[in-house]
Amino acid sequence: MTWTVLNLITETEGYLKKKGISSARLDAEILLAKVLNVERLQLYLQFDRPIQKNELDTYRSLIVRRSQNEPIAYLRGAKEFWSRQFQVGSGVLIPRPETELLVEHVLKFFTSSPKKPTSILDVGCGSGILAIILACEFPEAQLVAIDISEEALYYARLNAEAHGVQDQIRFIKTDFFQDMTSWAQNYDLVVSNPPYIPSNQIQNLMPDVKNFEPALALDGGEDGLNFYKYFVSILPHLTKEHSLVALEVDGGIGEKVCEMFCSQWKVELVKDYGGQKRVMLAKK
Ligand SMILES: C[S@@+](CC[C@H](N)C(=O)[O-])C[C@H]1O[C@@H](n2cnc3c(N)ncnc32)[C@H](O)[C@@H]1O
Repeated sequence: MTWTVLNLITETEGYLKKKGISSARLDAEILLAKVLNVERLQLYLQFDRPIQKNELDTYRSLIVRRSQNEPIAYLRGAKEFWSRQFQVGSGVLIPRPETELLVEHVLKFFTSSPKKPTSILDVGCGSGILAIILACEFPEAQLVAIDISEEALYYARLNAEAHGVQDQIRFIKTDFFQDMTSWAQNYDLVVSNPPYIPSNQIQNLMPDVKNFEPALALDGGEDGLNFYKYFVSILPHLTKEHSLVALEVDGGIGEKVCEMFCSQWKVELVKDYGGQKRVMLAKK
């Protein structure tokens, strides 16, 4: 049988569906586009294109990995965030669309503020999405982005270079809960999307997430609040009079996080379009 773009996609869609992959058709197309090095929509103009043996072998190995729930972003090696492409791979959290809400509200805050941030801290930078977008949006700013994971920082540095902001961001491998001498200063803006899943809920996550994404990026301790508790205690050493702090939260813990901050900070909880509490903004 001669494999063509169309019959290969159709066959693969059926195979992935049987394996329980709900986005079977889309994934079959995305991975074939990657192998053929074309945009996905271009496949529709090339349905009769024959597939070469080497292309077929590469495609099959990707499809086997997808059938075992490996995230499509890892297989593609990239994920879009804030309309930009970020390289990702095993060992780094895949950027989530929810995190765009944090960017949106930080930018909104500074649009109406006469002074733009010139010093920014990103805690748990992962693939670098927050630090990199903020560096692009605030070209005068210098940023510090910390993470405990060498793999995450590898991708963050690659992405910073790809977006041309490597000179604005100092990436530091460090444990947030340990010595802060290498990164502590008074920042205009502190952002973080910290791990916030309670430890005993990790097992209930989708297989794509729990079997492939780094536990370090997900596990927020017994109640999911480890990072927020520590933030409350150290933020006075990291902020100034008019600083903004923007932390991603999960619907289930948003209120608790606000309660922890509200005695020292004016806090606002931002909901996403589905009504879930997603971002806490805190000002002095
Ligand atoms: C939820 S991920 C967020 C990644 C990225 N900011 C994003 O929004 O996609 C949390 C990040 O915190 C990092 N992290 C976990 N524990 C840490 C620690 N003790 N100190 C510093 N970073 C840590 C993880 O490696 C991971 O990259």
